[in-house]
Amino acid sequence: MNIVLTGFMGCGKTTVGKALAEKIKKRFIDTDELIQKTAGKTISEIFAEQGEKKFRKLESKTISQVSKLDNQVIATGGGSVLNPENLKVLNRNGVILFLNTSNDVILKRIENQKNRPLMSVQNQKKQVQKLMKKRMPFYTQADYILDANCSITEIVNEIQRLLCNLQVCTTVTNKKELAKALEFETDLIELRLDQLHENLNELITISSVPVIVKVQFLNQLPEVIRSPAAIVDLDIEQADDFAIQQIRRKQKLVLLSFHDFQKTPSLAQLTKILNQQMQNADIGKIVTLGTNTEDIDAIIGLLKIAKNAGFPLIAFLMGESQKHTRTLMCLKGSLLTYAHVNQPLAVGQSSLQELKQKEACSV
Ligand code: S3P
Repeated sequence: MNIVLTGFMGCGKTTVGKALAEKIKKRFIDTDELIQKTAGKTISEIFAEQGEKKFRKLESKTISQVSKLDNQVIATGGGSVLNPENLKVLNRNGVILFLNTSNDVILKRIENQKNRPLMSVQNQKKQVQKLMKKRMPFYTQADYILDANCSITEIVNEIQRLLCNLQVCTTVTNKKELAKALEFETDLIELRLDQLHENLNELITISSVPVIVKVQFLNQLPEVIRSPAAIVDLDIEQADDFAIQQIRRKQKLVLLSFHDFQKTPSLAQLTKILNQQMQNADIGKIVTLGTNTEDIDAIIGLLKIAKNAGFPLIAFLMGESQKHTRTLMCLKGSLLTYAHVNQPLAVGQSSLQELKQKEACSV
């Protein structure tokens, strides 16, 4: 997974990026630097000789190449967000961080620098205001918006804190697994009634973290409703109004889940399912088999809709090749990701230990 820094000229993408990469031991790439290296010319020369349009083409080509790599901190040029395709490709394997700085801070930093063609104007203040106004709607599409008016160390620490914020729910079947999950600091526990080898109430009582109970058949509901489970997970296809009411009456949260083990439906189809979940549940879950980049785009789009609506959604893709989406989607708004302590319960699932280790070194 990549960490992508966006923001206006002078917001600190390169300086922060280098410091962050060093701290979390990832490679650092600056797209402007790469463009200059490939073209054998400075950015100012490219602008002067070939124009901004040509520069933007080179920029998109470079972004498309670097976004295919993994485990890097990428500093992008300040105008790259204007092309939606750039953001799209960076999003597929990266968390996008917007370093937000005030116009005054920017002006102070770029005052005496000669390497920014768009700033070679009479009135720099007006130029910053104009460009910032146009770009803000694109910058704010980032996964996180950071106040970058502070020191480099403070920004780097804040980024690390954000990246370590994975909520992991571990599925267990007995007391021994439960103890192991708690020892590795799972954030939630999932108990699936079809796989349970021990008493439901006892396991929930032992757990020091909230428990989600997955109900396979509606006739299992009375037992779950009587239990101290915090969240009840019902398949959206079998949930009815009566079941939902019963769960709510016992002050439990209703989680409506949708799975597709064959494919990922289109964003339009997924949005319909999400709307149904938003109307009837406290939490939604949409997990599908992912095979290509369109599938990743669909889940990212879905998480954006849920985020804007303030609805808690769990969403990622199954599949060995889409393993990275299980953590990436948490950084794009998925409420949590699932893990196991013994053996994977779905294609591409990681162990809790693996995830916690990733978390420690910033994913
Ligand atoms: C630009 C920003 C520059 C560079 C080019 C155009 C922009 O990068 O890509 O001069 O349009 O804002 P920095 O943001 O790294 O200065």
